[in-house]
Amino acid sequence: MPTGSVIRSQQQHKVFVASSDDSKICVVMVGLPARGKSLIAGKAMRYLGWVGIPARVFNVGSYRRHNTPQPAATFFDPHNEEGERMRRVAAEAAMSDMLKWFQSGKGVVAILDATNSTKERRAWIYEKCRQADIETLFVESICDDEDLIMTNILEVKTTSPDYKGQDPEASAQDFRTRIRNYEKAYETIDDHEKHFTYVKLINVGSTVIINQIKDYLSSRLVYYIQNLHIKPRSIWLSRHGESEFNLTGRIGGDSNISERGERYARALPSLLQKSGVPPNTKSVIWTSTLKRTIQSARHLKAETGYEKLEWKALDELDSGVCDGLTYEQIAEKYPEDFAARDEDKYNYRYRGGESYRDVVIRLEPIIMELERSENVIIVTHQAVLRCIYSYFMNVPQEKSPWMEVPLHTLIKLTPRAYGTEEQRFKADIPAVSTWRGKGTSAKHQEFPKEGEPKEEGGSKEEGGGR
Ligand code: ATP
Ligand code: F6P
Repeated sequence: MPTGSVIRSQQQHKVFVASSDDSKICVVMVGLPARGKSLIAGKAMRYLGWVGIPARVFNVGSYRRHNTPQPAATFFDPHNEEGERMRRVAAEAAMSDMLKWFQSGKGVVAILDATNSTKERRAWIYEKCRQADIETLFVESICDDEDLIMTNILEVKTTSPDYKGQDPEASAQDFRTRIRNYEKAYETIDDHEKHFTYVKLINVGSTVIINQIKDYLSSRLVYYIQNLHIKPRSIWLSRHGESEFNLTGRIGGDSNISERGERYARALPSLLQKSGVPPNTKSVIWTSTLKRTIQSARHLKAETGYEKLEWKALDELDSGVCDGLTYEQIAEKYPEDFAARDEDKYNYRYRGGESYRDVVIRLEPIIMELERSENVIIVTHQAVLRCIYSYFMNVPQEKSPWMEVPLHTLIKLTPRAYGTEEQRFKADIPAVSTWRGKGTSAKHQEFPKEGEPKEEGGSKEEGGGR
């Protein structure tokens, strides 16, 4: 039984809600510093939020920073009594806020991000959660690859608020001493903790040990976490080239691409190269099963290194009885539906069709596969692309269906240690706009440009706290 009872809203949507009789989960991160705990915690929170499960990270480091903003490595020595006391205070404050959050009824999954590196600390967390009827899932990250740890330190630790304004080399040295101090007290999860539900990720998931997973949500989370990797890679997203339906403002269907759409299809191989698709290596292309995406990818040939896969899950949002109509015709024929969609576009389900929420649910296996994969190029549709983009860039549900994703534009997403970097590459080939603003049924409305500069090759970044 998944966490959250399944209720039906007026529009017959299955929605996850937190209620007093639902199981709640505290994911407890475990491991020495610079083992990717915060990265895993941040990604898990983003994934859960995207599938509609209320999740929040409680980072003990940020609580500790209130009183001790820039401690030296000696602060973390287990023999330093004052340091130990202040660290306990920070852990208690995070725990207290977490319990309040659960009590408020808003929370389903909390992620307690700290080293939680002693048996004593874990037993305390387990007991506190047990008393509050909260399940615990311990996630331990173990890594003995010294080069990787050094890279992690240089990549993220020397720029952390703990070392703001300090010399990077001295900061890296201090952080190594901090790790040595933690090692003095660190106890890995062992047989004495067999009653815990836990997963151990050894060397970025090259070995995974799973113990006592009891419920569906935990198993889903564990599956997600074990698929994560940190090899450098990018994901390219493109809508199909302009279609015949796009020209006439009709939605859905399975039309061919237009003459300008074909020009985009021909330009796609060089646009991909320009955006940095590695030459002479195999690149994976995913399309939907609809003609306009397959035609758009047809000039990316196997003999030039492209391997294609068609996914039904990447087909455009099913507009049911409205399939093949223009927005104007929908507003005329189904005025109430048209207004209801504007009111709550994410949850509105077309009669006999889908909502954005439905699309996110069918895209979950795509996201799992994307997390496992390296470079992937996805040629898909407006609504589907909005959903995939929102997962990577953490776009809130209410905003994602209204996002502008222009035709003939390639979006390159590159995961970094604390967020995803985005670059856009525009092909110089005109296309109609298929974006529609709230309250209008205009055929080819332009997205208001103010405050949204999107230059060729322009980049922005989605970040996370640390
Ligand atoms: P701290 O205890 O100081 O908060 P942390 O364990 O939370 O450290 P992060 O801040 O998440 O560490 O470290 C991020 C770095 O770890 C990134 O450079 C990322 O590439 C790397 N990383 C991610 N996952 C793993 C993993 N499973 N093992 C080792 N390194 C990882
Ligand atoms: O107009 C192109 C299109 O891909 C349609 O097939 C689809 O119904 C629509 O975009 C999705 O966008 P919106 O959710 O804004 O109507």
